[in-house]
Amino acid sequence: MDILTIETSPIDGQKPGTSGLRKKTRTFMEPHFLENFVQSIWTGIGGVTGKTLVLGGDGRYFSDRAAQVILRMAAASGAAKVIVGQNALLSTPAASNLIRKRKTDGGIILSASHNPGGPDGDFGVKFNTPNGGPAAEGVTSKIHEATKEISTYRIMEAQDVDLSTPGTQSLGRTEIEIVDPVEDYAELMSQIFDFDKLRALFAGGFTMRFDAMHAVTGPYAHAILEGMLGAPVGTVVNGTPSPDFGGGHPDPNPIWAKTLMDEMHGSDAPDFGAASDGDGDRNMIVGRNCYVTPSDSVAVLAANATLVPRYSEGLAGVARSMPTSRALDRVALRLDCDCYETPTGWKFFGNLLDAGRATLCGEESAGTGSDHVREKDGLWAVLFWLNILAEREVSVADLMADHWRTYGRNYYSRHDYEEVDADVANALVDDLRGKLADLPGQTFAGQTIEAADEFAYDDPIDGSRAEAQGLRVTTTDGGRIVVRLSGTGTEGATIRVYLEKAETDPEKLDRDPQEALSDIVACADALTGLSERTGRKKPDVIT
Ligand code: G6P
Ligand code: ZN
Repeated sequence: MDILTIETSPIDGQKPGTSGLRKKTRTFMEPHFLENFVQSIWTGIGGVTGKTLVLGGDGRYFSDRAAQVILRMAAASGAAKVIVGQNALLSTPAASNLIRKRKTDGGIILSASHNPGGPDGDFGVKFNTPNGGPAAEGVTSKIHEATKEISTYRIMEAQDVDLSTPGTQSLGRTEIEIVDPVEDYAELMSQIFDFDKLRALFAGGFTMRFDAMHAVTGPYAHAILEGMLGAPVGTVVNGTPSPDFGGGHPDPNPIWAKTLMDEMHGSDAPDFGAASDGDGDRNMIVGRNCYVTPSDSVAVLAANATLVPRYSEGLAGVARSMPTSRALDRVALRLDCDCYETPTGWKFFGNLLDAGRATLCGEESAGTGSDHVREKDGLWAVLFWLNILAEREVSVADLMADHWRTYGRNYYSRHDYEEVDADVANALVDDLRGKLADLPGQTFAGQTIEAADEFAYDDPIDGSRAEAQGLRVTTTDGGRIVVRLSGTGTEGATIRVYLEKAETDPEKLDRDPQEALSDIVACADALTGLSERTGRKKPDVIT
């Protein structure tokens, strides 16, 4: 088989963002775009010769083609072995697990997470390092540098590898091992949770709906929930991955998982509802008439962690991204364990997990995970909840009410303004940044500002510093406003406004969050001039 050296030149816009390189699918399909980036990954990691990688993704449109290109490029550059999920499928947490379990030199995940797929949707390529987590800044910047200097890439001329059946093949001298995407992951889950208890829960008539949103967790949820745990067939819906996610938006939040939300608020609602995103790392938890915010979810998991076999000895520490509500901090205080505040992006948890400083992590963006892998993990969060419910024998609503009575409630919501003109968005952030120092003591829409700063993070393990990670403003009566621009969008700018209000009055724990936050919302608007600057009357997405 011939190895071709193809001449190319740098392509703009190949800087990895919050989570790898994410672009319109059509951009990835342009000549040399994917190849340039993959060759730059090889360069950025010091070459792929003799290395073993994991490869898989969420099955979105173009994944099958991209996987074949990557295999041919790995072979052309002398990789020893590539472990590929059958049909190029691997959920993000399952890929992370395989990288760790098989002690590989890393892996490539093909996904744009919760963004829609298809020729007019999004595509993405992410490199994960040998610890199983997304490459840290040091590696991604080397990859980015390489994209700016590339002049050739190497690719093998060969037929497609048949990825439809598990087994071993070869491509030139590179071994291609095709594995069942679910098996190792399911085994890991059975080691973490009390599967006997969960089987008994379902056998006792507990009802659940898991919406896989036509994305990658379908096969995992069918195998684990319906197969291993005995939940009735039909528990998992939209369980067959489709290249365009059934035309939907595979983001598990109340907007995009509306069908599930409606069912959970209807008269025949099951006991428990959950959903996961395109690549299986996000989760949404919803009880009967009771949506659980991701910020509350991680707090509940932390508070109840010792009920789960793997965490029965307690937690070394917990971590949350800065915009995530401080509900977790309240639990950490009681548990007397450290609570770290990191910038948005799962990669920032990596060092804390590796160093054993944090056991459990969570983000407001529907990500929850632990030190079992180095990615957030949707189905793991769902099983965690099930394990807690099985032990405590209460409904989700009662569990939440009890949690808030014990710890207080952090009312929380995120308001997103999507596809805003980038100049308008940047000016809004710059102007707010410019006046932060003067804000304390001033009053906006009736709220007095207590403190204001721009978040920067000093990694306690490697000493690296991440600057400009979001503007945060607290008010004297327990409110907090965070403003930052999304790092994962592919079009225009997305302004995220994170709103929080702490409440400990037992009489006020049961309010509608938007109503409870209305003062803070007004304050945020007065502070930023958002509605006037963007011309938007309301957010595009409220989570
Ligand atoms: C991805 C990352 C998360 C991050 C989320 C939102 O899912 O893995 O760590 O919280 O995107 O990021 P954004 O920059 O769009 O707010
Ligand atoms: Zn995802």
